[in-house]
Amino acid sequence: MELRIKPIRSLRGSVNVPGDKSISHRALMLGAIADGVTTLENFLEGEDCLATLACFRKLGVDIEGPQSGRVIVRGRGLHGLLEPSAVLDAKNSGTTMRLLLGILSGQPFFSVLTGDESLRRRPMGRVVRPLRSMGARIIGRRGGELAPLAVQGGRLQPVEFNSPVPSAQVKSAVLLAGLYAPGETSVTEPVQSRDHTERMLAHFGAEVRRSGLTVSVTGEPSLKGTYIRVPGDISSAAFLMVAACIVPDAAVKISGVGLNPTRTGVLEVLQAMGAGIEVTLSNTSGEPYGDITVYASELRGFEIGGELIPRLIDEVPVLTVAAAYASGKSVIRDAGELKYKESNRLATMTAELSRLGAEVEELPDGLIIRGGKRLRGTRLKSHGDHRVAMALAVAGLAADGETVISDAGAVNVSYPGFAETFRQLRERQPLWK
Ligand code: S3P
Repeated sequence: MELRIKPIRSLRGSVNVPGDKSISHRALMLGAIADGVTTLENFLEGEDCLATLACFRKLGVDIEGPQSGRVIVRGRGLHGLLEPSAVLDAKNSGTTMRLLLGILSGQPFFSVLTGDESLRRRPMGRVVRPLRSMGARIIGRRGGELAPLAVQGGRLQPVEFNSPVPSAQVKSAVLLAGLYAPGETSVTEPVQSRDHTERMLAHFGAEVRRSGLTVSVTGEPSLKGTYIRVPGDISSAAFLMVAACIVPDAAVKISGVGLNPTRTGVLEVLQAMGAGIEVTLSNTSGEPYGDITVYASELRGFEIGGELIPRLIDEVPVLTVAAAYASGKSVIRDAGELKYKESNRLATMTAELSRLGAEVEELPDGLIIRGGKRLRGTRLKSHGDHRVAMALAVAGLAADGETVISDAGAVNVSYPGFAETFRQLRERQPLWK
């Protein structure tokens, strides 16, 4: 599939974005190993979360839906999963593979996990090592660094794991394995990453404690099925936010978006760039959410690094687009993790934005963007990466001439309906529905 983008003058209206990807995965996983029924609403029907759903069906879980975002999971209890007779396919989804490895490590059966070409290139040693230290037997290519991976699960011991990387997937894999270990399992991170797993474990009834950068869970909990309405994904909303900033006549309201503070770095950066943004928080317990309104704005360059990076890690591609349309220089540092995403995002964003005429320099751990150059539409590649495809599509909205993005079917990984949402907003709905 190709995405063809013509520059637009106006972007106005009120929209919802699909459900949060990280929360949708976790809700399915915990629902599957809880006792009783879990009902999900606004579940993200993107390919990544559908991969998780298919894996749990192969593990014997009865799952109804998704139907208009509604999913009913009949949990099998902590020890009720069944040995899958076929290979589990995480497709493009790092969250599926890494979190599932944690759960599978604690099962008294054998399983094999694989993924698509991109996922089979991504580092798995970061989860395999701590899981082995808990007693899991995992083998795979390059000593367990790369999928396919085979897991002979069994009894686990709790660990106190000091994670060398600020990764929610690593933290979550260890915490989920910790559910199968008697006693307390803890993970200490170098910098706090998204905390959806911790919040959701508590919501299902597990004992979870946080002290600074350390989070602990008590093993063998009794998890109870529950109701979860998944908030809109702020990572998907970020594409609309940057689009609204750079299109000349724009006012876009995005309703019901997750505003978990471990995910809201993008709002802080856009505000520091001078963007007109209003945020109204409507729920503060569990997973906070609210509405975000963004207006066309004159943007200035920014400098980011350190502990802010994990709070906006998935928004860096679209922030580089904002930087290209801003005045002055922007610098992104401490973002070496971007090399290990669905594509090497430092390299792919540098290559594709440069093709549009932006001035981008790749650093070992970040990017420098000298903004304010006129961008000219051309043929671009998504590199099979959903967020690269969508960031480039946003760049095309304010470039001269037509931008064509090849292999853009990747957007369905996290944002089915992406192009349709922009079509609606371009057709000038009244601001408030
Ligand atoms: C995710 C964690 C992040 C993020 C990914 C989703 C999660 O990855 O980039 O899109 O749901 O836990 P890392 O844990 O590799 O940083």
